[in-house]
Amino acid sequence: MRTTVGIIGAGPAGLLLARLLHNAGIGSVVLESRDRAYVEQRQRAGILEQGTVDVLRAAGAGDRMDREGLRHDGIELRFDRRRHRVDFPELTGGRSVMVYAQTEVCKDLIALQLKEGGPLLFEAEALAVEDADTDSPRVRFRHEGREDVLECDYVVGCDGFWGVARNAIPEELTQVFERTYPFGWLGILADVPPSHDELVYARHDRGFALLSMRSPSVSRLYLQVPEGTDAEEWSDEEIWNELERRFETADDWHLERGPITQKSVTPMRSYVHEPMRHGRLFLAGDAAHIVPPTGAKGLNLAVGDVVTFARALVHLQETGSPERLDAYSETCLRRVWQAERFSYAMTTLLHRMPDATPFEDRIQLARLERITDARSAEQDLAESYTGFPLE
Ligand code: FAD
Ligand code: DHB
Repeated sequence: MRTTVGIIGAGPAGLLLARLLHNAGIGSVVLESRDRAYVEQRQRAGILEQGTVDVLRAAGAGDRMDREGLRHDGIELRFDRRRHRVDFPELTGGRSVMVYAQTEVCKDLIALQLKEGGPLLFEAEALAVEDADTDSPRVRFRHEGREDVLECDYVVGCDGFWGVARNAIPEELTQVFERTYPFGWLGILADVPPSHDELVYARHDRGFALLSMRSPSVSRLYLQVPEGTDAEEWSDEEIWNELERRFETADDWHLERGPITQKSVTPMRSYVHEPMRHGRLFLAGDAAHIVPPTGAKGLNLAVGDVVTFARALVHLQETGSPERLDAYSETCLRRVWQAERFSYAMTTLLHRMPDATPFEDRIQLARLERITDARSAEQDLAESYTGFPLE
């Protein structure tokens, strides 16, 4: 099989890239190791930055998002039983975010790709990227029990943190920056209307909690839990009791309970692989970088990477200049490191380290008070949360 751009992985990065290339008249083939139902149901991100919303609309993939997505103009920070609202449009000159689940973004992009785009093969597992530093890189893959080869002009590894594309970059050219955290998030989906109309990020002595949503009738909630926790260790009642404690306020706010339909634990890490390009192999999204989820940045970064790649390839085709493709890694990494900084700051601001000293607890509260008291600190949070501009 032969194509212009071989894309490994049909998460948001791979699917959106295929759509952007299709719109620009550039051929691609997407290889995805899992089946369609798995990709469409894997619960992950929920928050789209303004820039991501704009990109999906411009790509012709925004119709259902505009009908069903929920525009959010702020978040609530909760600590010491107090509540503080951060007003995004007021602090950022009009920016907001959209609550629209990653599962729905993927469903919309898959439907479009199967209807109008190039081949999207499910249960097609990439085994290795070969000849990345030549003009004709290849992806070896297995599909329907047979091994095959996809010959390409370019390969984009959108295969997430556990993918294979990264392995094709020689170790001696690679630098990895990493931090793991001694806790994870226990996430639940519950059939109950969200107890607040905006997201609530809560810092509590017992640990962090987050109230989010998927629709006006489905809540998504998270609890900080020790690293290595098994979701089944927690009964539904224990989860609700713990959420209630961590969201406690001095006023009469109340957490509504409902049937829990899903629960799972996500580990937390920060990770950056530099460079994000080797020859004609480009890494995009979680294949190149991971952020802890507290800043809601992962999916948005993946979108930034593939937009940068697609624009650079179009620039090459229109002008003959490889300048933008050559700058791909540096361009993406500037944005990646801003998101790493913000996600790290939000994580350390709101989570309880297992070995936190009383001094560190007071500093955490002082950082929160600074955000509630100083417009400059609150503005920095609002600007970072609503998104970093694409170059
Ligand atoms: P992935 O979504 O991981 O997709 C990679 C794809 O490649 C997968 O479908 C995988 O099956 C496939 N693949 C892997 N190996 C191979 C192979 N060898 N061959 C073929 N295919 C392969 N981000 C936000 O922006 N906002 C949020 O609110 C947010 N919340 C989150 C909450 C949680 C609990 C978690 C876990 C993550 C959250 N994220 C959030 C992060 C976000 O989900 C990820 O950053 C995003 O999925 C990255 O997209 P991707 O396409 O790069 O990778
Ligand atoms: C969601 C996830 C996040 O990491 C976050 O910061 C906000 C919302 C969510 O899944 O809804």
